[in-house]
Amino acid sequence: MLRKELEFFSFFAAAVLEDCQRHALKVCVNMSWLYDHVAKPAFSQLDPETAHELSVDALTALGWLRPLCAALEKWAQLNPVSHRPIECFGLQFPNAIGLAAGFDKNGRAWPAAAALGFGHVEVGTVTLHAQSGNERPRLFRFPSERAVINLMGFNNEGAAALASRLAKQPRSDHRTIPLGINLGKSKITPFDRATEDYLGSFRLLADYADYFVVNVSSPNTPYLRELQNAAWLQLLLGALVGENRARAAAGKQRRPLLLKIAPDLNFSQIDDVLTVIAHFGLDGIIATNTTQARPGVFSRAPQAGGLSGAPLQARATEVISYIAKATNGRLLIVGVGGVMDFAGAAEKLDAGATLLQVYTGMIYRGPFFARELAREVAGRKTVRSLMP
Ligand SMILES: Cc1cc2nc3c(=O)[nH]c(=O)nc-3n(C[C@H](O)[C@H](O)[C@H](O)COP(=O)(O)O)c2cc1C
Repeated sequence: MLRKELEFFSFFAAAVLEDCQRHALKVCVNMSWLYDHVAKPAFSQLDPETAHELSVDALTALGWLRPLCAALEKWAQLNPVSHRPIECFGLQFPNAIGLAAGFDKNGRAWPAAAALGFGHVEVGTVTLHAQSGNERPRLFRFPSERAVINLMGFNNEGAAALASRLAKQPRSDHRTIPLGINLGKSKITPFDRATEDYLGSFRLLADYADYFVVNVSSPNTPYLRELQNAAWLQLLLGALVGENRARAAAGKQRRPLLLKIAPDLNFSQIDDVLTVIAHFGLDGIIATNTTQARPGVFSRAPQAGGLSGAPLQARATEVISYIAKATNGRLLIVGVGGVMDFAGAAEKLDAGATLLQVYTGMIYRGPFFARELAREVAGRKTVRSLMP
C-alpha cells in the first residue's frame, strides 16, 4: 500500500522536477544549499552509522520511485550527445565518477545512483557467508580533517541474498550505468580456503553485474591483505580467471575482473602484484582502498581500521602514478582515495587514472557531489582536447 502511494506521489514529483529542469542551475544551487544548511547539520548530530543507514534507506526509496528517479537522472547526468561515454573493458561509462564500494554493501540503493550523477556504481563488499561485521561503534567522522575511519568488517547479508535481490532489479540492458560487485573473504573461512570463498560468491553473482572487483585490501578482516602476496594472489586470481573462462566457454558472458589494492603496499610489493595481474590479463586495478597509516593529527587517533578522505589523497595518487609508469599506461586504473574536489580528481586523472570513485567526498560534499565533479571533469577534458 505504502509503495503504491509513493509511486503515485513520484509521478507528481517527477512532473515538478521536469519543470525545474528548465531552471537547472537554480535547482542545483538550492539542492546544495539545502544539503549544506539543513541535511548536513542534521546528519552531523546523528551517530555516523545511523546517518549512513538513513542515506541508504533514502536512496533505496528513491530507486522505487521510478518516474522521479528517471527525471532526476536526466537532470544529473551529462548530455550523451555533447559528452561521449568513456569506454573501458567493453563497457560504456557515461562519466568518469563512480560510487566506491562500501556504501551500498547489500545492493539496495544502487538503482538510484545514476540519479545522483554517478557514472558507475560498485556494490559490496559481499562475502560468501552473511556476517554482521565488527562491534559498533565502527565508523568515525573527522569533519575538520575531511576524513573517516571505519572498521566495519564487511557487514553484509551474503552473496546468495545479494544474488536474489539483484535478480529482481534492472538487468544489464536496462541499466544506464555499469554495475560492479566487489567480492571479499568471509571472516569464518580459514585463510587457506579463501579462494573457494571468493569463487563461491563469483559463481552465485556472475550473471548479475557488469564487472567484478577482487578485494584483497580492506584492513578490517584479519589477514585479508596477505592475499596481496604474489603466491596467494596467483592462486586466487588463477581460480577466478579460470572460472570466468569456463563461463565464456559455456556461452555466457565473460565478466571484466579488477583487483583492488591497499595504499600501504610498498613499490616492490606493487611490482609483484602487477606481475600477477599481467600474467592473468586482468582488466584493471582499483587504487586504492583505505589506509592503515595514521599521518599528521591521526597519529594520536585511538581508532583502529581504515582511514579515508583527504589524508589519503596524496598516497593514493602516488600509487596510481607508480602503476601508470610501471605499466606504461597499459593497465586500466580506477583511482580512488581522497577525491574531495575537482583539483583532487584532476590530480588522479593526470597521474594515469581513467575512471575515479568517491566515498568520503560524498559524506562531506553531499549527495550531488558526483554530478558536480562529473561536469567539471568532462569540461576539463573538452578544454584539453581543444588545445593543439
Ligand atoms: C565506511 C566505509 C566503508 C567501506 N567499505 C568498503 C568495502 O566494503 N569494500 C571496499 O572495497 N572498500 C570499502 N571502503 C573503501 C572505499 O571504497 C574507498 O576505497 C576508500 O574509502 C577511499 O576512498 P575515499 O577517500 O573517497 O573514501 C569503505 C570506505 C568507507 C569510508
